[in-house]
Amino acid sequence: MKLDFPIEQTIKKRYSVRTYQEKRPISEKDKEKLMAYANALSNPFGVHVSFHLLETKDASNSQKLGTYGVIKGTKVFLGATVPAGELSLEAVGYDFEKLILYATHLGIGTCWLAATFNRSAFTTAIGVKENELLPAISPIGYPAEKKSLTESLFRKTLKSNQRKIWNELFFKENFNTPLTETDAGVYALPLEMLRLAPSASNKQPWRVVQSNGAYHFYAEIDQGNSDDNTVVIQRVDVGISASHFHLTTLEKDLSGKFEKLADLKIADPKDLRYLFSWIPEKE
Ligand SMILES: Cc1cc2nc3c(=O)[nH]c(=O)nc-3n(C[C@H](O)[C@H](O)[C@H](O)COP(=O)(O)O)c2cc1C
Repeated sequence: MKLDFPIEQTIKKRYSVRTYQEKRPISEKDKEKLMAYANALSNPFGVHVSFHLLETKDASNSQKLGTYGVIKGTKVFLGATVPAGELSLEAVGYDFEKLILYATHLGIGTCWLAATFNRSAFTTAIGVKENELLPAISPIGYPAEKKSLTESLFRKTLKSNQRKIWNELFFKENFNTPLTETDAGVYALPLEMLRLAPSASNKQPWRVVQSNGAYHFYAEIDQGNSDDNTVVIQRVDVGISASHFHLTTLEKDLSGKFEKLADLKIADPKDLRYLFSWIPEKE
């Protein structure tokens, strides 16, 4: 499959941009490129994700379309909506992250926002329907040279430059045995790219178990947060991680497919929820 941009390089380049060049709003051409890319996206979960471009200066309730002062220097946002259902949130994670990586490749800054935005004002402005979810939005624009104080504080508090190490995330056969890079073989790079993914509050809730050559994806779900019809943000995070993993397999010509297995015989610890598996194609 032909990819539109270099994956490993772009994953390493991406970071959450919260301060934009106010004097240089995003060009019409770049907005068009992003929307054309967004409208052509599809994901392995078979759920259609819709993208919306929102300019807060044009909206009638522009005062309320805010981000609580977290995002500075841009008034342009992308929002993703999806019908509520199984694997919907994973699909949003996958598609929106692919769009974010494409934006990064074009030199456009982004920042996943699932909490620090006025959700009800954006919901009204986009016209989100009753059976639909608006799990996240992202500002778009050109990154400013200097980060705002709020941005620096966010990064420091969330330890945004750090990620969990391999043996906290990747396992072999069961959750007691860590997976080494040697065990992972050709899948060491896709897993390493997964490890670098962004996540809400930098929680990195993804866990992967290798068993009989397949990779089973789990989410560490916050307690009391298990209703399938609400936005369980860790499911979006695991969709993001699947995007990094899958795009890297495509770049490295490793074939396979994602599938939700019905009879997985791995005992899950109680705070982990099984989501889907990567089944490599037999040579
Ligand atoms: C699903 C999701 C939701 C997020 N929500 C917010 C948010 O509401 N506000 C915010 O400032 N950052 C948000 N972030 C950004 C994370 O804090 C950031 O990705 C993480 O700290 C890692 O930093 P990095 O993206 O620069 O690598 C979110 C990220 C993800 C993936």
